[in-house]
Amino acid sequence: MKAIRIHQPGGPEALQLDDVADPSPGGGQAAVKLAAAGVNYIDVYFRTGQYKAQLPLTLGLEGAGTVTAVGSGVSEVKAGDNVAWTGVPGSYAQMNVVPADRLVKLPAGVSAKDGAAAMLQGMTAHYLVKSSYPLKKGDTCLVHAAAGGMGLLLCQMAKMLGATVIGTVSTEEKAALAKSAGADHVILYTKQEFEPEVKRITGGRGVDVVYDGVGASTFDKSLNCLRPRGYMILFGAASGPVPPLDLQVINVRGSLFLQRPSLNHHIGSREELVQRAGEVLGWIKDGKVKLRIEHQFPLAQAAEAHRALEGRKTTGKILLIP
Ligand SMILES: NC(=O)c1ccc[n+]([C@@H]2O[C@H](COP(=O)([O-])OP(=O)(O)OC[C@H]3O[C@@H](n4cnc5c(N)ncnc54)[C@H](OP(=O)(O)O)[C@@H]3O)[C@@H](O)[C@H]2O)c1
Repeated sequence: MKAIRIHQPGGPEALQLDDVADPSPGGGQAAVKLAAAGVNYIDVYFRTGQYKAQLPLTLGLEGAGTVTAVGSGVSEVKAGDNVAWTGVPGSYAQMNVVPADRLVKLPAGVSAKDGAAAMLQGMTAHYLVKSSYPLKKGDTCLVHAAAGGMGLLLCQMAKMLGATVIGTVSTEEKAALAKSAGADHVILYTKQEFEPEVKRITGGRGVDVVYDGVGASTFDKSLNCLRPRGYMILFGAASGPVPPLDLQVINVRGSLFLQRPSLNHHIGSREELVQRAGEVLGWIKDGKVKLRIEHQFPLAQAAEAHRALEGRKTTGKILLIP
């Protein structure tokens, strides 16, 4: 089969289309023929070496497709089931072998492409608005990169929970998309500083929570956008990692709460995975959350997909089609 691997960390050119042996499932595992793999910012961190892994590495943590065979002791799925997963390496490939207890069956009416688009970013947006800081009616949140893969889902889910959403984006086109996903206010940070704008919009109070996946370039100003005892949820570093922090900053800026969460810790048990995925896939099936699969690349063009993502050229979800 074909797989996109890195042999050394590097730029997008480090992504190689290799011929590798078809994987076969061991005990507790299922083999899946992929219909689509999700592209996520974490793939960039692995490609560049910011996150470490054994090499060569088949990139990609998210995908969906059809089970072709199962190993011994598997009860969760059977051959022919349509399934999706996240948190399993080796997903930029035509086939993957996945621990069966990490697979989620796709409900009727949710396609494999939807599944590949929903698992990582959908469940992340879900835990951010439901677990990291459970949004409620009357809350106001700030969402950076509001037209990105995460951003469009966060805007929709935050609105669904009754919050007022302030988004930041770099272009007019992205502003229109964020608005269509439910953002009440969109700040074009390339034209206006977001910190005074957030203060103005909130009448000087500040927001209850900031969902920040941008990191280095937004973190410090974001702290100033919070109300006293507000919640700073730093969930990514698209612009680079946030430098080490003097914790006294968290005190003087208003007795703030700070979290740096990961999806893995929010789907640790099968029960939590099935519950969270079930709610997200249910919202998609019912049309309450709309996936915007804006970019689809053939598997062989994974490097193009990474260039577009890192170059801020993308909105919504990016898929690789094997
Ligand atoms: N912790 C978790 O559980 C978890 C799970 C999923 C994703 N994440 C994080 O969520 C963030 C968003 O991921 P995504 O896959 O949905 O990506 P994305 O938001 O679709 O793309 C990144 C966006 O960040 C903005 N950005 C600002 N400065 C940037 C820079 N210097 N370089 C590149 N982009 C920059 C751009 O939007 P503008 O042009 O509008 O500025 C860009 O489009 C990432 O940090 C990712 O690691 C974390």
